[in-house]
Amino acid sequence: MKKLLFCFLLVSAVAKSDEGMWMPQLVDALNFKDMKKNGFKLSAEQIYSINKASMKDAVAIFGGGCTSEVISNKGLILTNHHCGFSSIAGLSTVQKDYLKNGYFAMSAAEELPCKGLTVTFIKRIEDVSAKVMANVRQTFSEQQKDSTIKANIKNIETNAKSNNHYEAFVRPFYYGNEYYLFVTEVFKDIRLVGTPPESLGKFGGETDNWVWPRHNADFSLFRIYAGKDNKPADYSNENVPYTPLYSFPISIKGNKEGDFTMVYGFPGRTQEYLSSYAVELLTKQQDPLRVGLREIRLNILEEDMKTSDSLRLMYTGKYANIANAYKKWKGEMQGLEKSDAINKKRQFEKDFLNSLASEPEKQKKYSELMSQFEKTYTEYAYLSKQFDYYSECLLAVDGIRLTGNFVTVFSELKKKQAGLDNRFEKVFKESKPQLPFKNLNKETDRKLCKAMLETYFMNVPAVARPPYLDSLFSAYSGNVDALSNYLYDSSSFIDNNKAKIMFEDFEKTASQYEKDPLYLVGAAVFNHYQKNIIPQTTYLEKQITELQKEYMKGLKDHVKNKTFYPDANGTLRVAYGKVEGYNARDAVNYKYYTTLDGLVEKNSTGAEDFYVKERVLELYKKKDFGPYADKNGQLRTAFIASNHTTGGNSGSPVLNAKGELIGTNFDRNWEGTMSDVMYNVNFCRNITLDVRFTLWVIDRYAGAGYLLKEMKIVK
Ligand code: ARG
Ligand code: GLU
Repeated sequence: MKKLLFCFLLVSAVAKSDEGMWMPQLVDALNFKDMKKNGFKLSAEQIYSINKASMKDAVAIFGGGCTSEVISNKGLILTNHHCGFSSIAGLSTVQKDYLKNGYFAMSAAEELPCKGLTVTFIKRIEDVSAKVMANVRQTFSEQQKDSTIKANIKNIETNAKSNNHYEAFVRPFYYGNEYYLFVTEVFKDIRLVGTPPESLGKFGGETDNWVWPRHNADFSLFRIYAGKDNKPADYSNENVPYTPLYSFPISIKGNKEGDFTMVYGFPGRTQEYLSSYAVELLTKQQDPLRVGLREIRLNILEEDMKTSDSLRLMYTGKYANIANAYKKWKGEMQGLEKSDAINKKRQFEKDFLNSLASEPEKQKKYSELMSQFEKTYTEYAYLSKQFDYYSECLLAVDGIRLTGNFVTVFSELKKKQAGLDNRFEKVFKESKPQLPFKNLNKETDRKLCKAMLETYFMNVPAVARPPYLDSLFSAYSGNVDALSNYLYDSSSFIDNNKAKIMFEDFEKTASQYEKDPLYLVGAAVFNHYQKNIIPQTTYLEKQITELQKEYMKGLKDHVKNKTFYPDANGTLRVAYGKVEGYNARDAVNYKYYTTLDGLVEKNSTGAEDFYVKERVLELYKKKDFGPYADKNGQLRTAFIASNHTTGGNSGSPVLNAKGELIGTNFDRNWEGTMSDVMYNVNFCRNITLDVRFTLWVIDRYAGAGYLLKEMKIVK
């Protein structure tokens, strides 16, 4: 019996070759053999090497949370349209609307500098676990352990940065069982080279987001500029295109089902080793609550965005962000539900404990750990709910969020006025909205305030609410409409004209604004949650991390025959799998690729999300696909594969067995959004923009074929 259970555990725990996000510098040690077995043709050193140029030198963090890849020896980089979105929007005006019309520089002089945008390469990765843990004694209190670890990390980072122009950061892996140092090179002069119009880049809009089949040309092109010494430099017209150590060759030979693929990028966050208690909380409480709250917000925004172009522009980015996570949580919740994830986790935990039967001490230890999980999550559920009502309901109202930020501004100002050390200038600059409001409309926000307060009062018990908010609620006899009207009619913070006057001489006049009605609400909310909810939430989250750390160690030590990849944490990873379709549900099988035919089909439905410019349809009629057509004369737009990816992998290079670029990763399928918590090779797929579609858009649609001359194209 024991033996049988143990076997079962082994079988169920062994990662299928398609699951995993592997650290590149460990590919050799961990699963490179399996990569080879699955068809990869190059060496591990070609993926990652410190001494020689390797693929890692062509993969970079784009901005805050995406991936990009170098595709020419003149620093040309490729990423998603939705990753370039905020930079493109930042360069756009109503007269020159690059989102709507697209933009392609026809010469270097026309490449547009993007303020604040950075591109980050990894110079080297080092295991610093021993150094981080060096003087951390078992006898230390949690606090002592914490501060020692923090100090060690700071030291390691400082040392890595001294005497060079690099940046550095240390991240925990396996919940703090290991630590790695990342030495990076950050480029700051990044220019927009080209972007298709939104109607191509975001074709399908929210309707198609997180869904297969896809047809959007979700790409944009940028160029890295460096100083004459090829090192990072602030923007200057003296700067020159960066000469990279490595750039990806591009294959237009295409791919077929079963072909090896790999994705090299910066996945943001996964939680594959959660306990059943965590998955239960996620699927039964967190996901549904957050989805419900966002739905209210999205409906209001959608309604208002329809009324005018200026409102649409104002909220388009915000809307996309809110909608993106909303839809993902919805898919995740359904997927986990459908695959009976909670019970699978329970069974796994049971099997894990049973497998330790010959070591009663250990069995006892881990069974106690499970009880700890249960206890902690029971406590945490309440706090998590309160926190979600704070961040997804109250802070969903810009007026509340914005005024809440001013609590710190006022307190720093007071320090300044008392002649004390202070951070006033900094926090003021960070908290002060750009005027006139760029991404905020007073009347839309008023509606949000009404709806969110109503939900809030209906669902959050009085004991958990900020007393001041409660007193207002009573004063208005529960009429949130009247209450919101009072706030929005009288506040200076949410009104373009009044805010302009307020900020003109803020330091001198500040004290009178501390009585601003909306500010009083923002401050009450901020203070209440900072004091009553956030510290306890953080405390329990830390405890959970500690438990996860133990659990993770247990799994790694005792579940043999499986190589545990670390959860995604925004660091460089390799995922590999193969090009393949999937069975979505009874009788529904998805093919692995899409073509421009499908784009035209969707367009003909007349739905707004599927609008394209006439030019696309004209080119389609001519079937002028040139060398980008497949064997059937069709232009392939996207394909799916079983690479384990997540948010942050957007823009990642998708490579074939020879390491040639065949596409850009941009999404996952609906059924597969659960892969952040539980990967299933049968239906979890990443969605890749076929590079032939990208090149066709650059060359034939935009007439910027000159850019292809600097690429290495494999025909
Ligand atoms: N789902 C993709 C990702 O997570 C694309 C998001 C942007 N597109 C959108 N329609 N909101 O980032
Ligand atoms: N669109 C996502 C991103 O921005 C990638 C899709 C996913 O979450 O896998 O990174």
